[in-house]
Amino acid sequence: MELLRGFLIIWITLALFSQNSSNVEGRYHAHKKQKNKKAPVSEPPAYPPDPQDPVPSPVYSPPAPSSPAYPPPVSSDPTDPGNSSSDPCIFDVTSFGAVGDGSTDDTAAFKAAWKEACKVESGVVLAPSDYVFTITSTIFSGPCKPGLVFQVDGVLMPPNGPDCWPESDSKNQWLVFYKIDGMAFTGRGTIEGNGEKWWELPCKPHRGPNGSTLPGQCDSPALIRFFMSSNLVVSGLQIQNSPQFHMKFDGCEGVMIEKLSISSPKLSPNTDGIHVENTKYVGIYNSVISNGDDCISIGPGCTDVDIEGVTCGPSHGISIGSLGVHNSQACVSNITVRNVLIKESDNGVRIKTWQGGTGSVHGISFENIEMQNVRNCMIIDQYYCLSKGCRNQTAAVYLTDVKYRNIKGTYDVRSPPIHFACSDAVACTNITLSEVELFPEEGELLDDPFCWNAYGSQETLTIPPITCLQEGEPQTLVESSKYGC
Ligand SMILES: *[C@@H]1O[C@H](CO)[C@@H](O)[C@H](O)[C@H]1NC(C)=O
Ligand SMILES: *[C@@H]1O[C@H](CO)[C@@H](O)[C@H](O)[C@H]1NC(C)=O
Ligand SMILES: *[C@@H]1O[C@H](CO)[C@@H](O)[C@H](O)[C@H]1NC(C)=O
Ligand SMILES: *[C@@H]1O[C@H](CO)[C@@H](O)[C@H](O)[C@H]1NC(C)=O
Ligand SMILES: *[C@@H]1O[C@H](CO)[C@@H](O)[C@H](O)[C@H]1NC(C)=O
Repeated sequence: MELLRGFLIIWITLALFSQNSSNVEGRYHAHKKQKNKKAPVSEPPAYPPDPQDPVPSPVYSPPAPSSPAYPPPVSSDPTDPGNSSSDPCIFDVTSFGAVGDGSTDDTAAFKAAWKEACKVESGVVLAPSDYVFTITSTIFSGPCKPGLVFQVDGVLMPPNGPDCWPESDSKNQWLVFYKIDGMAFTGRGTIEGNGEKWWELPCKPHRGPNGSTLPGQCDSPALIRFFMSSNLVVSGLQIQNSPQFHMKFDGCEGVMIEKLSISSPKLSPNTDGIHVENTKYVGIYNSVISNGDDCISIGPGCTDVDIEGVTCGPSHGISIGSLGVHNSQACVSNITVRNVLIKESDNGVRIKTWQGGTGSVHGISFENIEMQNVRNCMIIDQYYCLSKGCRNQTAAVYLTDVKYRNIKGTYDVRSPPIHFACSDAVACTNITLSEVELFPEEGELLDDPFCWNAYGSQETLTIPPITCLQEGEPQTLVESSKYGC
């Protein structure tokens, strides 16, 4: 374990260092094909992230805004001899026939460039700036030689909506990386999800006639998925308007996410920013996320996840769960969320589990979090249910060792700022609170915190005062054999 972790840190350091020092642009020297047809230059994102609030915050200093860089395009002097083809490591998709005019299907060129880059050490698949590439749902698979880079400096997007989606393509995913060990997905470009027509499908919540929700198949693609891969770095990109989740990691190990900007409108359904499940050793740093669902969601099977310097909002906050659906076992541990700003969101930091699950959530720390006009700033919901028909059950995912420290700011008075609804059958234990100070965004109302079957302690007085947290331990402690992971 320790060895692996050490290796990961070294690997990540090397990966980042080598990107800075031998940066691809430096080697690339603007590969210039004289084009008669000027490709549409990437427009500014339709939903730019809110500029960072420059007011100094008492809770933490917001990270330097990681706004997407749209530097002026490199000189397109046609007399520049260009040098990219002489670099054996760079596989520019335009050299493989990609057109990048915003409508031509460039899938074949990307696949061909990937195939070649995968074969060499430190290969770079390059989608250069000033082009808008369209590809259909594609799985880029490994194993590949080490040091692979997938660099998007231009715009990369899927076909525009369900009507343009090829019949035979998966409607669950678009850009997929599979069985890759050691890859960086980076660049100063934009991954544009073209999600609008998916959000408007009549099967989506309240998008049917007269605000109804029609039944039926409602699959929509996750924009970017990493599956069964390890030692990944994702950095620098603007990722926006996903049909569904923007980014999803499952079955991965060693994920470093940095300086991303993710944005979709507040009312876009199920557009989680970053979702991880069955994944360990994850770092998510210095990123800005605004969307219509969870900012970051952590599913079953995740351990050692570190989140720091992230700004969320509008969003549904940072969420552990949902866990234990269909009586499944869920194990989540060692999750740290620090130095985070959550604003204009439906939840702040949330843990949600279904009735009837097993397993446990433990070793969770929420620290230095600023809330701005957030509903349910701190919420544990062990009655999570998407329909009305969920029965109470005797099994539940066991929650313990959950720490909230230095959580400050304002809440939206439509919901109590602190809500710990633990399972009737399995109490939550060892919830610790210190320096929690939450004030109503408007008015004077200090909504009473709600607790049910929640045990723990407060180390300093909480605002609003919390009297419902029970001291000590519940009379019936859970059998660790049943809930241990
Ligand atoms: C092109 O590459 C060669 C060898 O890699 C190098 O010597 C030369 O200076 C480069 N030319 C330009 C214009 O960058
Ligand atoms: C929508 O509501 C209007 C007014 O209530 C009604 O006349 C119309 O039939 C409804 N349309 C559908 C498709 O339900
Ligand atoms: C918890 O996870 C962090 C990485 O986020 C790691 O550095 C640390 O060693 C882990 N702690 C334990 C007890 O495993
Ligand atoms: C489940 O249990 C909770 C807590 O005891 C209670 O408030 C709720 O009404 C119950 N729900 C059902 C469907 O029985
Ligand atoms: C309670 O949780 C904290 C971490 O939040 C841990 O350090 C401590 O040992 C736990 N206490 C007990 C009695 O398990």
